[in-house]
Amino acid sequence: MCGIVGYVGNESALDVILSGLKRLEYRGYDSSGVALVNGNMFIEKRVGKISNLEDHLAGKNLGGFHVGIGHTRWATHGVPSDINAHPHTGCHERIAIVHNGIIENYAAIKKMLIDKGHIFSSETDSEVIAHLIEYYIENNSFLDAVLKALAKLEGTYGILAISESEPDTIIAARKGSPLLLGIADDAMILASDASAIIEYTRKVVYLEDGEIIEVKKDKMKTFDLERRRIDKKVEDITWDISDIEKQGFEHFMLKEIFEQPETIQNAYRGRIVIDEGLVRLDGITLSRQDINDVRRVILIACGTSFHAALVGEYLIEEFARIPVEVEYASEFRYRRPILLRGDLIVVISQSGETADTLAALREARDRGANVVGITNVVGSTIARECNAGGVYLHAGPEIGVASTKAFTSQIVVLYLLGIFLARRKGMTADEAGALLRELTKIPDKVQWILDRADAVKEVAELYKDTANCLYLGRGINFPVALEGALKLKEISYVHAEGYPAAEMKHGPIALIDENMPAVFAAPFWDEVYAKVVHNMQEVKARSGKIICIATEGDQEILKHADHVLRIPNIGKMLSPLLSVIPLQLLSYYVAVLRGCNVDQPRNLAKSVTVE
Ligand code: AGP
Ligand code: GLU
Repeated sequence: MCGIVGYVGNESALDVILSGLKRLEYRGYDSSGVALVNGNMFIEKRVGKISNLEDHLAGKNLGGFHVGIGHTRWATHGVPSDINAHPHTGCHERIAIVHNGIIENYAAIKKMLIDKGHIFSSETDSEVIAHLIEYYIENNSFLDAVLKALAKLEGTYGILAISESEPDTIIAARKGSPLLLGIADDAMILASDASAIIEYTRKVVYLEDGEIIEVKKDKMKTFDLERRRIDKKVEDITWDISDIEKQGFEHFMLKEIFEQPETIQNAYRGRIVIDEGLVRLDGITLSRQDINDVRRVILIACGTSFHAALVGEYLIEEFARIPVEVEYASEFRYRRPILLRGDLIVVISQSGETADTLAALREARDRGANVVGITNVVGSTIARECNAGGVYLHAGPEIGVASTKAFTSQIVVLYLLGIFLARRKGMTADEAGALLRELTKIPDKVQWILDRADAVKEVAELYKDTANCLYLGRGINFPVALEGALKLKEISYVHAEGYPAAEMKHGPIALIDENMPAVFAAPFWDEVYAKVVHNMQEVKARSGKIICIATEGDQEILKHADHVLRIPNIGKMLSPLLSVIPLQLLSYYVAVLRGCNVDQPRNLAKSVTVE
């Protein structure tokens, strides 16, 4: 959830840590802090944005510190405040730690340490880690003290620790929260995600759960929790620093919306042979037999990825005629799910680090199911833990907290997966080829919508002050309505709800009056279209205002909608890839017009690595 950076090298540790924290600020941003060590320890931490921390550091001469750790927080225990910000220390400022995750048994440990005379200063769960290390270090080396402390912890953690007693060392440990080590010339950088280290190196070592690593500027040693040495593989990062810069856009979210013609293409490029009706998903390691045996698909995800899964349900059922269930990861993991032979579990996660999705994956895997992952972040925990491989989105880093380009890429991959499975269930090469050919037309059609973004902005101007908004769609565009509502509420704080359009008359219709706009996704002509038009009339009859996403050339809609946002003509199964784009733009412009912090909305964080 939070961002962590640590540096050991020859440069000013503070400079590297602050630039890394800024790259990670999207992960958590209610407070931040640094701890630097040489013979002494220097600590500064502040509530608010990283710029606030920087202001407090300005003018201090700290260039002589070459080892340090930093943190940008997303509070779970204790309000955002200077004191609760990380790093945390023991009773004395000789040990400092930063922590991502939750220590579930912190209350018991805290009590035990208070009984031994420790004095705590924060309300966080994390502070117990520093006190535990402080407690053990009296009779142990730094590494052994950390190991002993870890043995007491229950819950999840990514931890960096420094100690005055070994000022050339950072010790890092991981259980359930991402952590990696970048190896640069003459320096080592630890971080919770690769965007913090890419400026300095492309060589990385990914830590696994249950591993602890002792890092000095020119060497590192990895151990398990029993202190046995582990050999780690050094891997390469394949994307570029330019992928995580704004490139002239005002916000990351807008940049990511506008990247979609390219990211959609990246999701299918190299994976399809149209003439042969072939889909290659080489990352999936299931045998031919396993695939033939699939009798049911269970898609598991959270948030926006869950909405992509709902679209996937339509796609896979339609193409492969295999029953599909879609589950919130948080529900799946706790409800003793019934798994049968022939079940294929597909977990979907942009970050690949979402705690609930990871737990669901493990639950399914431990019960012997085949689990495939659809993730964006290469090397993420979910990507590595799926026992049947997976499919990467190749969408490049998504920095805006509101997910946009990952959603459309997830739909593309689910479309491919549907065809991949369907080919084993009797879909012909010609049928598959036709579906794939349609897919390759999508990037240009998305570009067409983006070229008309100003029309969306005009509608946003008219509705920016609304307090509520209803999103309605049917069939495969019902999940798009859910996604449109989620986008609006998370970045502009306007209350929004998504419903299947026909459900409106079973309750939400009571909300409709002249102050309640309804956004319809009705992008194609078929039997459902006519029904959606009926639903629009029901809104109109109650003086509600209608904004409609409609297909180019559809004149009928002008009779019903107050505002029409156009998308190009498209068949039903691919329509969500187009109909969601104006909704992403609408939420973006409303949020900007309301003066909201689009990339870092309040209370949210990019990846939810806590339960
Ligand atoms: C999307 O805009 C959200 N901020 C959030 O719902 C997100 O989709 C969810 O937390 C799942 O994340 P994941 O795809 O990284 O697992
Ligand atoms: N649980 C810790 C806290 O509330 C860490 C939160 C985080 O991951 O940022 O301080």
